[in-house]
Amino acid sequence: MFAVVGVGAAILAVWLYLGFLQTVLAFSFLGGVYLLLFHWKWCYISIVTTPRDLRALWCYVKILWTARKFSHKNWTLPDIFHYTVQRHPDKPCFLFQDEVWTFREVEDFSLRVTAVLKKHGVKKGDIVGLLINNCPQMPALWLGNARLGGITPLINTNQRGNALIHSINVAKCDVLIFSSEYQSAIQEISSQLDPALKLFKFSHRRLNTDNKEISASGDGIDDLTSLLEVTPPAPWTLADADGFRGKLLYIYTSGTTGLPKAAVISNSRYVFMACGLHNLCLNKSDIVYCPLPLYHTAGGVLSVGQALLFGCTVVLKAKFSASQYFPDCAKYKATAAHYIGEMCRYVLATPPSPADKQHNVRVIFGNGLRPQIWTEFVTRFNIKNVTEFYGATEGNANIANTDGTPGAVGFLSRSFPKIYPIAIIKVDQATGEPVRDSRGLCQVAQAGEPGAFVGKISPNNPTREYLGYVDKSASDKKVVRDVFTHGDAAFISGDILVSDELGYLYFRDRTGDTFRWRGENVSTSEVEAAISGIADHRDAVVYGVLVPNTEGRAGMCGIVDADGSLELTRLARDLQRDLPPYARPVFLRVMSSVDMTGTFKMKKTDLQKEGFDPSLMKGDKLYYLDLKQSKYLPLGPEEYEKILKGIIRL
Ligand SMILES: *[C@@H]1O[C@H](CO)[C@@H](O)[C@H](O)[C@H]1NC(C)=O
Ligand SMILES: *[C@@H]1O[C@H](CO)[C@@H](O)[C@H](O)[C@H]1NC(C)=O
Ligand SMILES: *[C@@H]1O[C@H](CO)[C@@H](O)[C@H](O)[C@H]1NC(C)=O
Ligand SMILES: *[C@@H]1O[C@H](CO)[C@@H](O)[C@H](O)[C@H]1NC(C)=O
Repeated sequence: MFAVVGVGAAILAVWLYLGFLQTVLAFSFLGGVYLLLFHWKWCYISIVTTPRDLRALWCYVKILWTARKFSHKNWTLPDIFHYTVQRHPDKPCFLFQDEVWTFREVEDFSLRVTAVLKKHGVKKGDIVGLLINNCPQMPALWLGNARLGGITPLINTNQRGNALIHSINVAKCDVLIFSSEYQSAIQEISSQLDPALKLFKFSHRRLNTDNKEISASGDGIDDLTSLLEVTPPAPWTLADADGFRGKLLYIYTSGTTGLPKAAVISNSRYVFMACGLHNLCLNKSDIVYCPLPLYHTAGGVLSVGQALLFGCTVVLKAKFSASQYFPDCAKYKATAAHYIGEMCRYVLATPPSPADKQHNVRVIFGNGLRPQIWTEFVTRFNIKNVTEFYGATEGNANIANTDGTPGAVGFLSRSFPKIYPIAIIKVDQATGEPVRDSRGLCQVAQAGEPGAFVGKISPNNPTREYLGYVDKSASDKKVVRDVFTHGDAAFISGDILVSDELGYLYFRDRTGDTFRWRGENVSTSEVEAAISGIADHRDAVVYGVLVPNTEGRAGMCGIVDADGSLELTRLARDLQRDLPPYARPVFLRVMSSVDMTGTFKMKKTDLQKEGFDPSLMKGDKLYYLDLKQSKYLPLGPEEYEKILKGIIRL
């Protein structure tokens, strides 16, 4: 009896279970159909982008893991470097001209620096500025200072006069070490420097440790190199600093406008940035070619960090040379090469040569390889992989293009947007001010809609904190509040990005660089790229100028024509083909050269101020676009008057 009931119950249970299973299957099937029918786009995007997102997530986990290792030990950069040195003291660390510096030699040099600075009273928290050309000793100088707990501002070596005084003062330097080449630049401003500032002159030469005499210099400035020669290295110790989260460097952000601002780089941030790049595309056996200045984040953190943290060999170059780029890579057997700003365009503009493909570079990385030249570049120079990334020295959010999609500077996950708290928010493109909704919060830009890049700040996470600038008021300008919820904060970069359907992000412009003409927004960097492409990769800067009694700003293009080979008729014809009418420059200024920032961006503020007034052109030739003939005609004082009076219509 019981058995019958038991079997009956079991059958009933199985039947019910199968029924349940069926129902679940039926519902999931219906659910799937529903998703496909009504959210097919979302399904498609998820399927296409999830592998990319998971790979990037894995990379992010590895970065956090490495950072945690150092954070746990509470090490600072000189301690981490010591650990690298111990692994292979005799491996080349830096290659420079014909010099080879092993890891041990770099550390020995830094220990001498520690000894000399200590003898001169440098202690924890002191600020020792460097105005030093690219050379292997440059990182060793700041490592030696960091061992004493000092902070090192890395001053842009192109600066003179007021900008130089500003850089030294804003960082509150106690000591300044400068390359002997800059002696006259320092002398010019010496009366305006704090008399308490201690100066050292540094000359680039291999130390002659048999030297027992300090060379006397008549100017009362100590010669650091000879002091290093006569002072034995300090015995190695762990740094007497504020640990992993403590301040390490000040790096000046090179604005295309205004005076430089000193951004704070902590040890943790240094590690996070160098580690990020390493995990994206490099490994310990890579030889990295770095023709960038070492006083910027790109050269001084991303490339040099590969040697200090991971034991890569890094090739340093005194100055970037487009024609030497790949020949150098071949000479030093580089396997990875760094670029920034307009560098790739300059390298592409060199005449083709057999050296183009005779190198071992497998990956190039950096910021500024534009979509318009991406494919041509990788094909001509036979580059397998490109890692283009985007991030600000002072910012807290970095993104990278991890799969070589031409033109993208990174991506935002479409399926898991919350994992990495960055976003593109709607802004007024002219002022850079966020557009807010009725609750006062910022609005996320949709695919295809340009917006500003923001990174959410969380003070306790080293990858998300914002250290800002030394100057507090400048720091606050870069923070927006009440972004996604009331009371939160985010770092806002000065750049306009746009995302596509799959979440890939493309650089559009710097805020304020977009101008309006005939009711349309003109992106200066897009027009620059188009013109440069038409005109054999020449330098072209585009900006908007005010014309009296005319709405918006008229586009003006400064274009470099060093050898007089620019054909204006052809240029006008090609522009007509490649650009919409509102984006074609109304004015042309033909120049012999254009000023560059330290990160190889073109400077345009002065050009914009001079506008289209022929009396301010300093020998440059000026033209305006005649709409009827679609031709550029010369613009002299007479035409200028007619334009002001509205007789010539633009
Ligand atoms: C790291 O070291 C510094 C200075 O010695 C100390 O102030 C800090 O609390 C330490 N941090 C951790 C997490 O141990
Ligand atoms: C590491 O770098 C070397 C040199 O570029 C390269 O040959 C090797 O394939 C790389 N290894 C991995 C796992 O990527
Ligand atoms: C690197 O290049 C190889 C060969 O062209 C390609 O298969 C691979 O997907 C690339 N990797 C990335 C991350 O772009
Ligand atoms: C130009 O940009 C402004 C604000 O950034 C926007 O309101 C306007 O719709 C844009 N105009 C066009 C034609 O895209």
